Amino acid sequence: MALLETRMLSKSFGGLRAIQQLEMDVEEGSIHGLIGPNGSGKSTFFNLVTGVYKTDPGSVVRFAGEDITNFEAHEIGRRGVARTFQLLRLFSEMTVLQNLLVGYHTHTKYAAAAPIFRPRSVVRADQEASESMFELLSIIGLAEFADMPAGELSGGQRRLLSLGRAMAMRPKLLMLDEPAAGLSPTNVDVLMGIVLDLKKRYGLTLLIVEHILKVVMDTCDRVTVLDHGQKIGEGAPHEVKDDHAVVEAYLGKEMSDEEVRAAFAKAAR
Ligand SMILES: Nc1ncnc2c1ncn2[C@@H]1O[C@H](COP(=O)(O)OP(=O)(O)O)[C@@H](O)[C@H]1O
Ligand SMILES: [Mg+2]
Repeated sequence: MALLETRMLSKSFGGLRAIQQLEMDVEEGSIHGLIGPNGSGKSTFFNLVTGVYKTDPGSVVRFAGEDITNFEAHEIGRRGVARTFQLLRLFSEMTVLQNLLVGYHTHTKYAAAAPIFRPRSVVRADQEASESMFELLSIIGLAEFADMPAGELSGGQRRLLSLGRAMAMRPKLLMLDEPAAGLSPTNVDVLMGIVLDLKKRYGLTLLIVEHILKVVMDTCDRVTVLDHGQKIGEGAPHEVKDDHAVVEAYLGKEMSDEEVRAAFAKAAR
């Protein structure tokens, strides 16, 4: 069953058609990759699905069978969709644990409780929250940094924290926008190991935008390729990588068959 479905999904910014009549199905329990050149509409797709942008008329977004088109972001979050941002949006003054709790409280009814007025049920909920957040911190390998301001973390640790904050929302669908950007190859492997662990533990469905082809080829069950906001290819990684149009669009140049094979052989190393 498709957990996320889009039909006729479109978004224009003035005259620019950033997403054009996109039909996409993300199967429950799968790891789905979304790739394409810079400016092809990948982040816009995330923003449409998560309620950051409103869609153009005629668009349909369904999650778990429910029409959620143009719902408010918190309504979509509450249904089980969480995402990370390409440019991290952490609270650098707040501690690592507090950053996670922000994600958690975004989706509990206790969020609005004033600090002075704390009925027992709220205190108990807070304790539960802290405990489950510590569990999450240890899975993402940041438990020892719980009380450190997020601003003092390394680049790789910040990527992990942003993953943790999305996980704190207890999602069914986790959408990652270039999760490995700027990481060393070793850290890419660490991060993807953690992502796969989280998927297994919590039964997640994953949608991943990633420029590092190796990550896409190694981990995704299915890949959708965008160019100028349109789907130009879709299939298993090995199918997509043999598609000439896909490779040319993705790498942005005309290539011979030899070059296509070489490009992907390099990417898959
Ligand atoms: N808020 C916005 N206002 C105007 N144009 C935008 C906005 N967001 C994205 N775009 C444009 O939409 C196109 C797709 O952008 P984006 O989705 O960020 O691409 P990608 O993530 O694939 O690199 C680009 O041409 C970008 O400039
Ligand atoms: Mg982007």
